[in-house]
Amino acid sequence: MSILYSKYVLGPLTLQNHLVMAPMTRNRATDNIPNALMAEYYVQRAAAGLIITEGTSPSPNGLGYPRIPGIFSPAQVEGWKRITDAVHAKGAKMFVQLMHCGRIAHPLNLPAGARMLAPSAVAAGGEMYTDAEGMKPHPAPQAMTEADIRSTIAEYAHAAKNAVTAGFDGIELHSANGYLLEQFIRPNTNQRTDGYGGPIENRARFVLEVAEAVVGAIGMDKVGIRLSPFGVFNDMPLYGTMEADYTYLAQQLNARGLVYVHLVDHSPMGAPPVPDAMKATFRKLFKRTLILSGGYDAERAESDLAAGRCDLIAAGRPFLANPDLVDRWRTNAAVNAPDMSTFYTPGPKGYTDYPALKK
Ligand SMILES: Cc1cc2nc3c(=O)[nH]c(=O)nc-3n(C[C@H](O)[C@H](O)[C@H](O)COP(=O)(O)O)c2cc1C
Repeated sequence: MSILYSKYVLGPLTLQNHLVMAPMTRNRATDNIPNALMAEYYVQRAAAGLIITEGTSPSPNGLGYPRIPGIFSPAQVEGWKRITDAVHAKGAKMFVQLMHCGRIAHPLNLPAGARMLAPSAVAAGGEMYTDAEGMKPHPAPQAMTEADIRSTIAEYAHAAKNAVTAGFDGIELHSANGYLLEQFIRPNTNQRTDGYGGPIENRARFVLEVAEAVVGAIGMDKVGIRLSPFGVFNDMPLYGTMEADYTYLAQQLNARGLVYVHLVDHSPMGAPPVPDAMKATFRKLFKRTLILSGGYDAERAESDLAAGRCDLIAAGRPFLANPDLVDRWRTNAAVNAPDMSTFYTPGPKGYTDYPALKK
């Protein structure tokens, strides 16, 4: 008897199966507004139990990449509403991933008046893509003032309320992969000397205050969080107290009653592995739903669920390349391979044109 294809109760929601579509930035949101092409893409994948959207900015300041959607303006809320309605009609539940890029940005990608903000003025190494001028080095962000911290927390709460208005079942705080929330957690990007920097109790403060604000706005059953312990993406090096820091976060997030923790493991993409002990720590300390992701196929998904390592499995690239992934995995059918060259390009190619199996 398969666990993967059976129903799962997530807080007040019943998911049609245990398979989650992982959040994936696809850069099709022209002018940062969700559109009909995006609706088609998500509806094609609505056999998932839960769809987590691509990273979506709670603020003009958080729009670091070209053509990523936001959820701070009325037009964005309207665009998302059409998508959640269409996805719900096909059976999946849907959370929006709130991604504030922080220092992983470029002024050429930001709307007029927006600012590149981060805990400290530490530029990321490497370059990033801009539509206007191609690859550009990461500029140094502005260190957030106390007032910036307050207004950014308020933006998260506003975005969370917008998410409910837009018909989402909840939000996922993107506190992974080197974006703003993780920039506060990690010592290389957080060099503050106030109550938001220094020991982990301080470096975790911003994330926990954001979590409290969104829980206050929409309730703990509608708030999940994504974390990447041992993740190094976006110039976030490993450091000595990583395991202890994330153990503290597991305890603190549990105390705030969030509906899920979603752990990233990018070792299938060449990143350092997340130690099994770290995953087990979250399993032990975080009492609500645990989602694991990274390099899963049907067999490994079933085996981790059966072993009780987690409650749900999220798949990224397999969903990207297979609109009917659930059917394919269930019937042991062959899967399409993802085409990296169209991950982030505008238009339907490599987005809505992956073939489904003939019925
Ligand atoms: C094209 C692409 C875009 C991604 N964008 C995001 C994102 O916006 N937010 C996020 O948390 N992870 C993002 N990821 C990471 C995935 O959610 C997932 O963790 C990763 O692909 C590993 O899972 P997989 O082996 O099943 O693909 C992205 C991955 C890909 C391939």
